[in-house]
Amino acid sequence: MALPARADLERRGLLVVPGFVDLHAHLREPGFEDSETIATGARAALRGGFTTVCAMPNTEPPIDSAGLVAELMAKGAAADAARVLPIACITRGRRGADLADLVELARAGAVAFSDDGSPVSDSRLFRSALEYAQVAGRVVIEHPQDVSLSGNGVMHEGAASAGLGLPGMPAAAEETAVARDLALARLTGARLHLTHLSTRAAIELVRQAKADGLAVTADVTPHHLALTDEWVSGSRRFAWEGSEEDARQGAAIPYDPNTKVNPPLRTRADVEACWAGLRDGTIDAIATDHAPHASIRKEVEYQDAAFGISGLETALPLMLAGVSAGRAPLETVLRALSEAPRRILGLADTGDWIAIDRDAEWTVDALELGSKGKNTPLLGRRLTGRVVIAVVNGKVRYDAGASAAFA
Ligand code: DOR
Repeated sequence: MALPARADLERRGLLVVPGFVDLHAHLREPGFEDSETIATGARAALRGGFTTVCAMPNTEPPIDSAGLVAELMAKGAAADAARVLPIACITRGRRGADLADLVELARAGAVAFSDDGSPVSDSRLFRSALEYAQVAGRVVIEHPQDVSLSGNGVMHEGAASAGLGLPGMPAAAEETAVARDLALARLTGARLHLTHLSTRAAIELVRQAKADGLAVTADVTPHHLALTDEWVSGSRRFAWEGSEEDARQGAAIPYDPNTKVNPPLRTRADVEACWAGLRDGTIDAIATDHAPHASIRKEVEYQDAAFGISGLETALPLMLAGVSAGRAPLETVLRALSEAPRRILGLADTGDWIAIDRDAEWTVDALELGSKGKNTPLLGRRLTGRVVIAVVNGKVRYDAGASAAFA
């Protein structure tokens, strides 16, 4: 398809902006192709406006060698959809025992390092990781969680978990981990990125660290900006909506495993802190933590279900809903989805762009999602805002008009 003129698209009322960069997504290949493949994930990314998507290495085998990094990049290029960039493991096999060869992994093309899904609990090892990553010229993306404290929790610990009788993960499990991570960033002077922050206390620690001049950055997810732990109890109102919204939407049954995610959905006060962080720059980026799972891992008892929400295709409308509700200016959200993640990863601006129809209404339908992961508590929900065209490397790689799914 010929490249449309941006001015023509703008005349049609579309919003033409830089392509989004997702610095945190799970594309599941190799090893879990029943949940997602690099090709399906890269196509889902484009439909969500992400012209670049970074693949987390918690695959089987985990991406901890130069050969695996190269293989992932080749599969990403073959998908001919969003640009796929590999994040490699911090520790060999993600076992948290010894460091992977970070310098070699960076040379092979890894854009960052993370053991996401698990924190690096050994503080001495994490200190080394920060130091070696600095030598490799890459950032460490840490999943901050004190697993000895979160234990066997399956949701946020609070009134909702007490009401449901489910084991909770206290907010302090994130706060204490962030405090340790910041102390080690201070000690080493290395760049540190904290991913999927979800609690008021952790965000406050980052605010303070930034004021002290630490080279730390952070992201939040769309689901932590829009949903609360009340969703586990069956509420379906966004964090900024009133109680009448549940009556209008028809609240859901409790214990929907699609609300199970790590870190867990938090309280309204935490959600408010995430938005406040985004507004004042404490939070730099919005990242999806797209975590697709095959139905056999989700359509089970809440306690047994896998953690994760499939998020690439709903991120934009969720964030536009937040903008409409006055939670943050549009420019702030767009910057957090494109310019900020590029800066965090040190990526060059490739000039990729997308056109958005801000008024397009659509229903989240499992059959129409591009991702293999249908695990979102937004199924059946009507959302507003959709990507119409995505251009990568000067080529139209997604055109909703050409897609039967666009209705
Ligand atoms: O909910 C989550 N799912 N959190 C993580 O940290 C990992 C992810 C996954 O890989 O499914």
